[in-house]
Amino acid sequence: MVKYFKNYLCQNLYFMFTAADFIPNKYTSTIENGNFEWSAPSNIALVKYWGKKDNQIPANPSVSFTLNNCKTITKLGFSKKSISTSLNVTNDGFSFDLLFEGKPKEDFKPKIQKFLERVEVYLPFLKDYHFTIDTQNTFPHSSGIASSASGMAALAMNFMSLERKLNPEMTEDYFYQKASFLARLGSGSACRSVKGNVVVWGNQANIQGSTDLFGVEFPYTIHENFKNYQDTILLVDKGEKQVSSTVGHDLMHNHPYAKRRFAQAHENLDKLIAIFENGNLDEFIKVVESEALTLHAMMMTSIPYFILMKPNTLEIINAIWKFRQETQIPVCFTLDAGANVHVLYPENVSEKVLQFIQDKLVVFCQNSQYICDKIGHGAIAL
Ligand code: PMV
Repeated sequence: MVKYFKNYLCQNLYFMFTAADFIPNKYTSTIENGNFEWSAPSNIALVKYWGKKDNQIPANPSVSFTLNNCKTITKLGFSKKSISTSLNVTNDGFSFDLLFEGKPKEDFKPKIQKFLERVEVYLPFLKDYHFTIDTQNTFPHSSGIASSASGMAALAMNFMSLERKLNPEMTEDYFYQKASFLARLGSGSACRSVKGNVVVWGNQANIQGSTDLFGVEFPYTIHENFKNYQDTILLVDKGEKQVSSTVGHDLMHNHPYAKRRFAQAHENLDKLIAIFENGNLDEFIKVVESEALTLHAMMMTSIPYFILMKPNTLEIINAIWKFRQETQIPVCFTLDAGANVHVLYPENVSEKVLQFIQDKLVVFCQNSQYICDKIGHGAIAL
């Protein structure tokens, strides 16, 4: 088994986390039924995760800003299956109902089923209960904003709340680490949506505590310039994703530039360590925009190849560059694996940038839609 070194520094001792650390011992308490509710935010990567190994292990480290307004709110109802019921169940599998915005949503179920199968070894109580998972997003479902990160993080938080009832001695650190670990198994980037403003996922030599297994809060100084950093998401194309992230990550296997790209992610994280400390926004912009374009360049140079930007994505990028050149206002863009544009800028230029967005960029958005968000703190128990 692969060992993960240097994950956690405590009293000058290095602990090595392995996935086996998240397999619980015998539980000390019981609970019959109840419910929990958590919200978990989306996140926007600055250094992108693109490419993975087995078991959702990232091919390179990544770092993201946690968002504040774009989130999923999930309520988990649970009741213990009675012995007679479970004897009657021929296919003694997982038992759950799934509601989206209060209504049954059958087409979300396979993804949840797969998640439960993946995490069962870490949450051995899953087959003992019937669950009702009732979920909703604060952003429009068909906005092109991926809800898998916030959705999987919110679900993982709820399951950890249940596990904490079964094991009340659990520490706060373990609670959040394991929640992130579980969220990762649902959707890789979801592990960065659990706790903290700036979250690193993936082992990086110069970031103490970083691990492939779960997201950790960026452990070093973050300059005032990044406080309340703003992210306005311009909805350019609200359609279904052309390429699912599963297919996308797969494209990095045998990709001609993969090796160099993975090394570059480590280098860009090194640059960000310094930038977060000194607050140099010009350097920040260079790393962030280069990362966004590299992500898309990887898609354009894979076989099969994809162009996920739309003409209006390019219009927006060019308008941002022109505005930045003319005003010297440190506004920049980043992209996910789609056509929407995240416009990133410090809080003290908000008014000017929002005016610019209104005047020059809204015209490129589908139905003039955009979402104002900013850096947030992570999941919240409701
Ligand atoms: O978590 P996934 O498998 O949906 O992958 C997300 C990949 C990107 O959003 C493109 C980049 C990232 O690091 O979030």
